[in-house]
Amino acid sequence: MEARGIHHVGIAVADLDEAVATYERYFGGRLEHRVRVEEQGVEAASIRVGASRVELLAPLGDDTPVGKFLARRGPGMHHVAYAVDDVGAAIRELARHGAELIDEAPRRGMFGLEVAFVHPDSVHGVLTEVVSSG
Ligand code: CO
Repeated sequence: MEARGIHHVGIAVADLDEAVATYERYFGGRLEHRVRVEEQGVEAASIRVGASRVELLAPLGDDTPVGKFLARRGPGMHHVAYAVDDVGAAIRELARHGAELIDEAPRRGMFGLEVAFVHPDSVHGVLTEVVSSG
């Protein structure tokens, strides 16, 4: 599988409004989407920075995946997402190469795109997402 490139970098933050303002002010970021996903315990903002994108993730509570991440590691880099043509084909190939998958099948991600996650132990400590580039 050859990824098209980095689709976005996911960053865990404590305060989403403040983080969006930081990326707008410091880097000329433009808010692309903002969504609250109760079942994933997260509110997310997708920010375009030039040709690139960052995904800011704020927890809806302490007992959520991002809430636990913040408690353990503090704010900062959460994951890297690679754009691929076909998420299903990408995860089959990753599995064939021995990668440990968190998602055994593609699922619907935050902004309506198909995604799947690969365990950080398989990617040198980096939680890794593959996302359909649409
Ligand atoms: Co992501």
